[in-house]
Amino acid sequence: MDVYEAIRRRYSCRDYLDKPVEPEMLSKILEAARLAPSARNFQDWRFVVVTDKALRVKLCEAANNQKFVGQAPVIIAACSSSDHIMRCGQAVGPIDVSIALEHIALQATAEGLATCWVGSFYPDKVRAILDIPDHIAVIELMTLGYPADRKKPTTREPLERIVSYEKWRFTAENSFFMSDPPKED
Ligand SMILES: Cc1cc2nc3c(=O)[nH]c(=O)nc-3n(C[C@H](O)[C@H](O)[C@H](O)COP(=O)(O)O)c2cc1C
Repeated sequence: MDVYEAIRRRYSCRDYLDKPVEPEMLSKILEAARLAPSARNFQDWRFVVVTDKALRVKLCEAANNQKFVGQAPVIIAACSSSDHIMRCGQAVGPIDVSIALEHIALQATAEGLATCWVGSFYPDKVRAILDIPDHIAVIELMTLGYPADRKKPTTREPLERIVSYEKWRFTAENSFFMSDPPKED
């Protein structure tokens, strides 16, 4: 499957089969994260891969009781210790970890698996459950497994609304984002 096809097929899966992910497949997916780019190649990311049922139940509770979080056979807690701010003013940690996580999502899709980003969680609870030290930021969780649901139609803004060429040519109608973003994110 080429990258564009994986991008098109990826979706947020919120219903998983009760079927473990094969270790070789999981390794390949994690390798996709390892190969991700990072600012100055610091690779300041750590991934706690959780398959233990009791831990997943606890993580579900820490993720605002989102049922699919406990149901997924794998939960990845993506962490960073970087508090570095780039010259551009943006934080390295969340950016680097997010790139790596999307590599995971796309490679998982290419393997016939599915994922969901999870930002609705209490980081202190996740740290306590997984013995993650206080100075480590838990950037996001990601669920991973064989899907029991299918991709539903999703809406995206048209290109002409989100892209301008050469200069900022956005007008009052398209210059900014949704005023009422979905609450779960
Ligand atoms: C940073 C981030 C955090 C998210 N957190 C959650 C979450 O906590 N729970 C959830 O069900 N979906 C979560 N999502 C999934 C989004 O709702 C989803 O990506 C969006 O609605 C578009 O749908 P699609 O991924 O199926 O294309 C998150 C997505 C991102 C990128």
